[in-house]
Amino acid sequence: MEKILVLDFGGQYNQLIARRVRECSVYSEVLSYKTDMEKIKQGGYSGIILTGGPASVFDEDAPRYGRELFESGIPVLGICYGAHLMAYMLGGTVSKATIGEYGNVQLSIDDTDSRLYSDIPSSTSCWMSHANSITELPAGFKATAHTPDCKIASMENAEARLYAVQYHPEVMHTPKGTEILRNFIYNVCGCSGDWVISSFVEEKVEELRQKCAGKKVLCALSGGVDSSVAALLMHRAAGDNLTCIFVDHGLLRKNEAKEVKSAFAGKFGINLIAVDASERFFDKLAGVSDPERKRKIIGEEFIRVFEEEAKKLGTVDFLVQGTIYPDVIESGLGDAALIKSHHNVGGLPDHVDFKEIIEPLRDLFKDEVRKAGIELGLPHSLVARQPFPGPGLGVRIIGDVTPEKAAILQDADAIFREELAKTGEDSKLSQYFAVLTNMRSVGVMGDERTYDYTVALRAVTTSDFMTADFGRIPYSVLEVVSSRIVNEVKSVNRVVYDITTKPPATIEWE
Ligand code: XMP
Repeated sequence: MEKILVLDFGGQYNQLIARRVRECSVYSEVLSYKTDMEKIKQGGYSGIILTGGPASVFDEDAPRYGRELFESGIPVLGICYGAHLMAYMLGGTVSKATIGEYGNVQLSIDDTDSRLYSDIPSSTSCWMSHANSITELPAGFKATAHTPDCKIASMENAEARLYAVQYHPEVMHTPKGTEILRNFIYNVCGCSGDWVISSFVEEKVEELRQKCAGKKVLCALSGGVDSSVAALLMHRAAGDNLTCIFVDHGLLRKNEAKEVKSAFAGKFGINLIAVDASERFFDKLAGVSDPERKRKIIGEEFIRVFEEEAKKLGTVDFLVQGTIYPDVIESGLGDAALIKSHHNVGGLPDHVDFKEIIEPLRDLFKDEVRKAGIELGLPHSLVARQPFPGPGLGVRIIGDVTPEKAAILQDADAIFREELAKTGEDSKLSQYFAVLTNMRSVGVMGDERTYDYTVALRAVTTSDFMTADFGRIPYSVLEVVSSRIVNEVKSVNRVVYDITTKPPATIEWE
């Protein structure tokens, strides 16, 4: 299998580079710049990409790699800091630029015959973020592109197969960036593109099989995409040595617990311990209105139930977690990634005996995890599952939580989801759900005066969930949803649609 190594010098976009390479159908993995040359040689890489990073290459303690990297015969592409490193180590000069460049700038390609620039227009734009620049080329190199403020926006020694770019080809704001990376991978490294998500699945399963042969493995399954895919991968590798624990806290969406059970225990034949702990959760939550307190109670109780079940299994060798790359970044890059309980509400159980955590998805982005899920046969309803907070409907019931309120919300939410699916509106939205406001007001049904709850509908479009716009659902669809909810769900006499963006509102109501 062809592989490209991304050598990490601490930049923000390192996994993004690996992902772009994978989008070009070539497998890619990220290793620290501390990896020694022997290991890199043994890795059988077709090419190496050096990432950006916050350091200045001429600083004494800057992360560096010796000349042997550039003399190994493996093609190298340096990006930003990686470009500086290449120039510096090979005898060029890197200086603090008089004018730094940040943001989108015009890139003029001077050598359109360069393998890096085949089929790239001679004038395009690129994303820059640097204070230092290469000011003198190392021997054997020529400059191949410039920007208004950067004389050497890229350079190469084609014979030695060494390339460097000052800009960031991996980010969206460099519109031809993926093509430039593709040119490096195909035209310079000679890759042909043999990687698809099925290869990832196959290789991961094989790797896990070797690691876990004959060992006991435990997985906390939430029914979310990440933990589901992690569990399925592990199941392929460990079979009956894997046990999954699924805790139903009573605050899942309508029919969700059933779906998870029928998929995992039924379709896949996984050893599944499904615990209906809803009563315990409702007892603990009785009378509690403060959202943070509710989250904490649910998180703690979850861990307690999980521990109790896990204890019955005795010592396990491995605990599988569905951590994915964005979780790794959020918790502070690199090795020290915080452990995310599958509910990301409160960390790991303290009292479960296991030797090691395995995170088979930690290099993947969400859409790659979804593709792996499809490859593994995960049902569409679980693959396409929207984000769902660990504390579940507990955060969407404003005020105190009772089983009755949970049932009202489940029913209203199910109607909303059903109508959006029926009309195809769901595919235009990133997340949508119902909220049970704690507000009751007067209404009239038949000849009766009512005093019932208001349900709020929330639907958003977003690419990163950090900002969001409210979904423009047609009135005709909202009309049907509203009328069905007030008619079919008891104790609700009013439905409102939330038309606030994030910020200033959040996506969830709490
Ligand atoms: P907010 O409400 O902060 O939510 O705009 C942003 C996204 O995060 C989801 N969310 C959670 N996801 N555990 C999760 O896994 C949680 O505790 C949690 N709380 C909010 C929310 O649904 C939205 O997609």
